[in-house]
Amino acid sequence: MSVLLAPSILAADFLNLGAGVELVNEHADIFHLDVMDGILVPNLSFGFPVVDAIAKKARKPLDVHLMIVKPWNYFQRFAKSGAHMISFHLEAARLDGKNASELLKELKGLGVKAGLAINPDIPVEDVFPYLDDADFVLIMSVFAGFGGQKFIPESIERIEKLKAELTRRGLADKCKIEVDGGVGAGNSADLAKAGAEILVAGSSVFRAENPAEACVAIKHS
Ligand code: DX5
Ligand code: ZN
Repeated sequence: MSVLLAPSILAADFLNLGAGVELVNEHADIFHLDVMDGILVPNLSFGFPVVDAIAKKARKPLDVHLMIVKPWNYFQRFAKSGAHMISFHLEAARLDGKNASELLKELKGLGVKAGLAINPDIPVEDVFPYLDDADFVLIMSVFAGFGGQKFIPESIERIEKLKAELTRRGLADKCKIEVDGGVGAGNSADLAKAGAEILVAGSSVFRAENPAEACVAIKHS
């Protein structure tokens, strides 16, 4: 199975973030960084100082998942932090009547891979109009806001549907599917089979006894 693993720093020990990065620096393919504002999602996480600090230590590309309203106000700043991938929520674009395609183009103009994220209650078909402009789609397999939640099994079907649409339109090589929430060695093979190419994993990596081994187990199960 060839998937990219993106450990989510949200589950790391915040008193020892440098050590947390180091634990997975070899086996992670990407570092997933969850930025929350307490408005789009009912939780707060971290912002620029933490992302900037991780950028100094991480040997793999940074993937910034923006769970915030008006994410466009911060695209440039996160690109400057060294983000390689940035995603925002379709829900956030809708709140302000913004066209997600334009926002994806804006991100690409900053030299980053542009991603569109959706929560489990948004029909997967709602991202179809934007697939031409997205480098990746982030399918939330839990409701955005907290780590350590239980994987929602219907997410598999949503990924399959999205993959079929990408394939039908000849976009499957260009637009990747990322899945986030409740991912671990127990479902990684099914997710890869369904079409996910980037697996985000927080608790299953950082709450494991050996995070490096957990990375290998998730990628190779
Ligand atoms: C949740 C975040 C996730 C979270 C995943 O809103 O987007 O990235 O860190 O954590 P786990 O893997 O524990 O579900
Ligand atoms: Zn995330």
